[in-house]
This record gives sequence, C-alpha cells and structure tokens, in this order.
Amino acid sequence: MPNLAVIGTQWGDEGKGKIVDLLCEQFDIVARYQGGHNAGHTVKFADQHFALRLIPSGILHADKLCLLGNGMVIDPEALLEEIEKLRALGVHIDSNLKISDSAHCILPYHKALDLAREEAAGQGKIGTTGRGIGPAYEAKVGRYGIRIADLLDPDLLRARIEFACAEKNLLLKSVYGRETYDPQKLFETYLRYGEVLAERITNGTVWINEHLRNGKSVMFEGAQGTMLDIDHGTYPFVTSSNTVVGGICTGLGVAPKHIHRVIGVVKAYTTRVGGGAFPTELTDEQGEHLRARGNEFGTVTGRPRRCGWLDLPVLRTSAMLNGIDSIALTKLDVLDELAEIPICTGYNVRGERWKTFPAFAVSHHDYKPEYRTFKGWKKSIVGLTSIDDLPQAARDYIRFIEDEVEAPVSIISTGPRREETIVR
Ligand code: GDP
Ligand code: IMO
Ligand code: MG
Repeated sequence: MPNLAVIGTQWGDEGKGKIVDLLCEQFDIVARYQGGHNAGHTVKFADQHFALRLIPSGILHADKLCLLGNGMVIDPEALLEEIEKLRALGVHIDSNLKISDSAHCILPYHKALDLAREEAAGQGKIGTTGRGIGPAYEAKVGRYGIRIADLLDPDLLRARIEFACAEKNLLLKSVYGRETYDPQKLFETYLRYGEVLAERITNGTVWINEHLRNGKSVMFEGAQGTMLDIDHGTYPFVTSSNTVVGGICTGLGVAPKHIHRVIGVVKAYTTRVGGGAFPTELTDEQGEHLRARGNEFGTVTGRPRRCGWLDLPVLRTSAMLNGIDSIALTKLDVLDELAEIPICTGYNVRGERWKTFPAFAVSHHDYKPEYRTFKGWKKSIVGLTSIDDLPQAARDYIRFIEDEVEAPVSIISTGPRREETIVR
C-alpha cells in the first residue's frame, strides 16, 4: 500500500480524524508529525464517539502501530490522561503506541506563558488553544527545550528545568504578574512522567524508517490545517508548526520519496477558531445556520467556530503547497437546507483578480472576495453511501470544486460516522 498523507486544507477541523479512521484499515502505521494537544480529532462509529488530541486516530484500530513524531510538542500529563480516557472506553493501548525521543515536552510554564500573553494582547490576541504550544516550540527553536529523551536522564532534566525556570519565572512574575514554578517540584513530576512513559519512548526516526524498509505502510496524520502553518498560513494568526506536507519529512525524519499520495481534507464550507483573517466569514444568520447545523464548536476548547462559505483561493493554495492528489470532501450534508450556496472563486485586489490566497492583501483588508452562487439541493443527503443517490445540484457543487482545485473528490462525507461516507 502506498504511504498516504492526510492534510487539512483550511483552518483545521476539516474532519481529518474521520478520514484517517476511515482509511487507516489499509495501513500498518499511523503517525503524527507536528502539533500537540491543540488538535482535536473526532471519530464516530456505531454508537461510539472518540476525541483524539495527541494520539493518532489509528489507535482505535487494535492492529495499527501509532507514533508521536519528533516534530510534535507533547504535554506528558495530557498524554497520560488521554491514554487513560481511551482505555476506559475500551481502546487497546499497549506497545502499539510509541513516542519519539526527540519530540519536545510542554511544561506548565509554557501553558502559563501562552495564557498570559494572550491576555496581555487584548484584542490583538491570536486566540490560541491555551495549551502552551507556541512557547514550547519557541523553546525548541531557541535550543533550550526539554525533549522526551531528557525525561530519562535525571541530571540533564534537572539542569534544563532549573535553567528554564530561572528565566520563565522572572518573565511570569515581573512581566505578567503570574504565579511561578518550583523547579524541584517540576523535576520530580517530569521525572515520574519519564518513568511511566519509558517503555514507549524510542528513536522515532529509526523506528519508522526500519518499518518502511520492511515494507510497512504508513499514514501520516496532519493536525491543524494548511492556513495555520507557521510559514504558509495567515501569520501571525497561525499555530507554531509546519502543518503542510513538508512537515512530515522534518517531523518524522522520513524522506520525501516515502510520501506517495496526499489527500486534502476539505470541509464543504469554511470554519476557523480564534482570531485572524477569514475573507468568506458569515457574521449573519447564515453563519449561525452553518454553526448550528454543522455543530461547529471546538473539540478541544468548546469555542464556537467562525463559519463562512467555501474559499477556492484557500483550496488552490493548499493544493499547491501540499501537492494534493485527491480530496476528501466533508460535511456536505451540512449544506442540505440551503436554497443557494455561494463559493468564493477569487479575490479582487485593487482591480486585479487573484486565484490563490493573497495573504498580504488580506492582512491589509485590501481585497474583495468574488462569489459564484450554486443552487442548493434542499433535501437530506445525511448518511448517503452511493454517489448515484446524490442530488444533481450536490454533484454540480462537487464537480465545480474538482475543476477549480484540479483534484478529484475521492471521498464524500455525508455525516460524522465512519459509515456515512461515499467512496468513489
Ligand atoms: P479534525 O480536527 O479535522 O479531525 O475535525 P474535528 O473532529 O475537530 O471536527 C470535525 C467535526 O465534524 C467532528 O465533530 C466530526 O464528528 C464532524 N464530521 C466529520 N465529518 C462530517 C460530515 O460529513 N458531516 C457531519 N455532519 N459532521 C461531520
Ligand atoms: P485540529 O487538528 C482548528 C488554532 C487556534 C488558534 C491558532 C493557534 O483539530 O484541526 P495554538 O494553540 O496552536 O497556538 O493556536 O491555531 N488551532 C486550531 N484550529 N483546529 C485545530 O486543530 C487547531 N489547533 C490550533 O484556534 O487560532
Ligand atoms: Mg479538530
């Protein structure tokens, strides 16, 4: 089986969890390569419902191996909590879950700094998930981060925590007026996490490359979305990792030749949580309708998601950045009741037409989205499993996306459950 990357094409929450769960039967390994527990991937089948944050969605399939890659930032407390929650739901987690020794740890002062900075930024805040993601990646790039492997080396761990606390405590106390952290207590806590996680910790790069050499197939599970990429997204309203397909190579230590196919997960409309530009946003009752019908509330934070029409410049940009081979179109059923469905086909930037995302113009509010309106199908497609049963208007909507993004729609999701899917 060729290896497959599953990538969010918009601002996250496209339904990656459902698509990974649906397709992972065909793979041996499911690996995450970036992000942390800012992700919230929902998987539903039969009467079961799971919310995955750090652990790859493949864990729900007992015979799959799962890896948290070196490109991730991991809060050990959140990871242990997630393992316990999943086990309580009957999920088998044993030696099937591995953690890269060079992934970075999130410590409590990262979370405190994330929250303190957001509060200090007032209206200009990013709207982060408040999980300490940004400060943990800063520590990594600043070369004073604490890696998963460090949890197994008491002397090194103590020295790194003491060094970090000296600076972070001063910052937290003097700049933000926040509580400080006792390095000794943190050391004891994180040493204990190391002991509990020890048997899962491995050289993730060697582990995955050995499996690849032995002919095992891998599914790469993206978190967040392309427009939240630190380099290619709507900076500074982004997350702190490379969410695009390129992040797989660095975030797992896997060479490009191992990424055989890329499936872009596209929600049939657009959503975004937190601040930042959102050109097709609907702030009226139509936005309310999408939010209510699509149950657009964050898996991680419960925040209402901002909703808007499908944005082709975003999708064309995503297709370009990720080399998308095919599209998984999700939540098409959410559009069921609409009489008319506009799609943004381009932007007018000072009289010039843009077909890709004009990041600079958007951040300067110097653009006007242009729309083409499609007729709605006005009937329920919930749970359909055959393309033949889709109304013509829905097929027209899909066809237009395929033509404009220049990629075939190979999966159409008609409900949150695994079985509510059309596979072409
Ligand atoms: P992810 O972060 O990309 O995995 O997406 P989330 O799980 O955060 O958000 C997607 C939400 O939409 C979840 O609540 C899913 O259960 C739900 N969902 C996924 N596909 C469909 C679909 O085709 N129709 C409907 N109505 N809901 C869906
Ligand atoms: P999944 O994997 C949607 C957003 C936050 C915020 C910005 C920065 O479920 O699609 P961070 O905590 O990462 O520093 O927040 O990124 N964000 C997400 N939005 N889905 C996600 O993950 C997200 N992870 C982060 O809302 O705007
Ligand atoms: Mg999500």
